[in-house]
Amino acid sequence: MKMRAAITAVNGYLPEFRLTNQVLETMVETSDAWITERTGIQERRILTGKDKGLSTMAIEAVNGLLKKRGIGPEEIDLMIVCTVTPDRVFPATANIVCDAIGAKNAWGFDLGAACSGFLYGITTASQFIESGKHKKVVVVGGDKMSSIIDYEDRTTCIIFGDGCGAVLLEPNEEGFGVMDSILRSDGSGCQYLHQKAGGSWRPATERTVEARQHYVYQEGKAVFKFAVTNMADVSAEIMERNGLTADDVAWLVPHQANKRIIDATANRMGLDDSKVMVNIQKFGNTTSGTLPLCLWEWENRLKKGDNLILSAFGGGFTWGAIWVKWAYGG
Ligand code: UT7
Repeated sequence: MKMRAAITAVNGYLPEFRLTNQVLETMVETSDAWITERTGIQERRILTGKDKGLSTMAIEAVNGLLKKRGIGPEEIDLMIVCTVTPDRVFPATANIVCDAIGAKNAWGFDLGAACSGFLYGITTASQFIESGKHKKVVVVGGDKMSSIIDYEDRTTCIIFGDGCGAVLLEPNEEGFGVMDSILRSDGSGCQYLHQKAGGSWRPATERTVEARQHYVYQEGKAVFKFAVTNMADVSAEIMERNGLTADDVAWLVPHQANKRIIDATANRMGLDDSKVMVNIQKFGNTTSGTLPLCLWEWENRLKKGDNLILSAFGGGFTWGAIWVKWAYGG
């Protein structure tokens, strides 16, 4: 049977500090009722403390991942860290993580595709497994969104949170693993969701910092419109082209950006609520972290052979869907 890349372990890390809607009410002009109704979010986690970055969470997540699978760090061939909030512009956070955990034989890189990062990462990783080049690839998806969020902007600060997940991918010749993947991007969407300064296009100056240009800029309504259509379309498309009906799908693993976008996607796929992973109320939008954190939380309920559709939409624009046949039980 064709060699595929199967997820063989999953782990996650969430910081302890909870930023609730009630606390946000004291920070910006908003209300618990508005946030809950318009997004479904009740609280999000924030990584507090000095000199802590994405790597702080990723190291915890990956160390736990290896322990769960019972393998040593030197067995990892490749580390892909999907994020828009790396520790630094360079070196890659993947290098920092590999050094910290002792993954001496691995190479790695960071992959930036915003909320679709984990889908891009899994698809990339699976090419290295399917080709026979690598046997153990770690894909990390996580973001410390609090490092680029303006806590005076009520349209964005209510949405995002910090968190990180990680999966291990290994070869599988029994028909389980990543079965299909559809990835898309459209750079014209940049105007609606971006960070204005801090990169090579507009390097940091006192003026850019003063103008608060190092924070996420989002035109929510426009992004919502694109997200709701494209995430639903691509999820339906991957089902159709693989002949999957709603009955065949055990779980939708959707990006957690807005409960209304999740509901629209599930509706389009003809899926009942009971088949949809939703934890947005607890963690908000952790960007590249949402999908692996869902897998981590639902891991004990997944059965060998379950058909999962992972689906996301985000900055870029980037979006896509992946069909995974789950490779282990319990
Ligand atoms: O994951 C990356 C991709 N991102 C997304 O998928 C996010 C997509 N967008 C969204 O989820 C939604 O557009 C938001 C949650 C960001 C906003 O919800 P909305 O229903 O689209 O609200 P809106 O932007 O149309 O604003 C409606 C009203 C406005 O007031 P007026 O102009 O009608 O008087 C806003 O000023 O709600 C106001 N508003 C708020 N009110 C209370 C905006 N933010 C808030 C707030 N609290 N936090």
